Amino acid sequence: MKTALATLGVMSILCSAGLAFAAEFAVLPKGFRMWTHTKSMVIPDKSHGLYGFHNIYANKKALTTLKAGNGPYPDGSAFVVSFYEVKNEGGASTQGAKIMDAVMVKTPKASATGGWAYGVYDAKGKRKAVDVVKGCYECHNAQAKATDYIFEKYID
Ligand code: HEC
Repeated sequence: MKTALATLGVMSILCSAGLAFAAEFAVLPKGFRMWTHTKSMVIPDKSHGLYGFHNIYANKKALTTLKAGNGPYPDGSAFVVSFYEVKNEGGASTQGAKIMDAVMVKTPKASATGGWAYGVYDAKGKRKAVDVVKGCYECHNAQAKATDYIFEKYID
């Protein structure tokens, strides 16, 4: 009995750790710079939470669905937003140094966050500690749920 209870205790710890892991399960994909660049956007206000020069990349699976419309996206679809400093050069705004990469990967493991795993990596590729539910999912859920949590529209 004691052992059974102890086992249950361990299992519930493992399960909750598993859930947290699932929600955050998004590895920065190697070679994403060779994916299709689908969009850029500049948020010049440094006090904005999403400040920076953004370049968005989509892998092949995501691209097919993005071009077709609103989803749902198949498992394995992935997007990366690379954030750069906004550099002003002679009246032009361009990308400065890398700030971070934000990743979304579609996986059944991420059922707690709408089927997309979220992750953020610093300029050196080190994972940043971010509450992906509050810091990522809640905004994507509130504003982009109708398009399977993806904001961007394909621009030819
Ligand atoms: C305040 C709302 C908000 C929050 C919080 C947020 N995002 Fe987004 N996200 C956006 C918007 C708006 C876009 C479209 C940006 C663009 O077009 O450049 C976007 C785009 C993306 C994309 C490209 C796919 C798409 O939806 O177009 C990824 C990947 C992404 N975000 C990951 C993240 C991650 C990881 C986090 C958590 C660290 C996060 N986002 C937090 C609003 C948000």
